[in-house]
Amino acid sequence: MKNQIDSSSTGVLFVCLGNICRSPTSEGIFRQLAEQEVPDLDVRVDSAGTASYHIGQPPDHRAIMAAARRGIEIASLRARRVSRQDFDSFDFIIGMDIHNYQDLLSMAPPNYPGKVGLFMDFAANWQEREVPDPYYGGDNGFERVLDMIEDAAAGLLDEIRRLQRKT
Ligand code: 4NP
Repeated sequence: MKNQIDSSSTGVLFVCLGNICRSPTSEGIFRQLAEQEVPDLDVRVDSAGTASYHIGQPPDHRAIMAAARRGIEIASLRARRVSRQDFDSFDFIIGMDIHNYQDLLSMAPPNYPGKVGLFMDFAANWQEREVPDPYYGGDNGFERVLDMIEDAAAGLLDEIRRLQRKT
């Protein structure tokens, strides 16, 4: 699923509301998984939010700590807002929940050649369609979100491997 701008690599953009909890966690997990499992996979990974509340900020400290406990560093990431230009740069633009997904569909140009998707559609072991927002909950919410993201990341990686015929 290539676009006209960059035909050499597959671009993946993870999107949530604030870009401080779910999507930077997804970015970190997916990047590390891809590097470990398929080092020669040609993939670019980024994340963004649909809201502007936290632009320029690092991820939520609970998200940083939860990811760090699994060996994933996301503290250096900074929040930004998703833009229309992202549809020129990314082949997969993946929302965490239905709201993100609908917001992305409403932003997508009619001729967008990539895929706007819902992350949990790539998960093999969860029935849930959405990665729940952990922002207002406790630490348990972050652990569960990590479990869900790990599963969905593996499914998305398989899909990209198939597309790049690297399997
Ligand atoms: P995220 O979580 O969308 O996973 O980054 C949230 C972060 C901030 C807010 C809501 C959700 N907020 O309302 O500020």
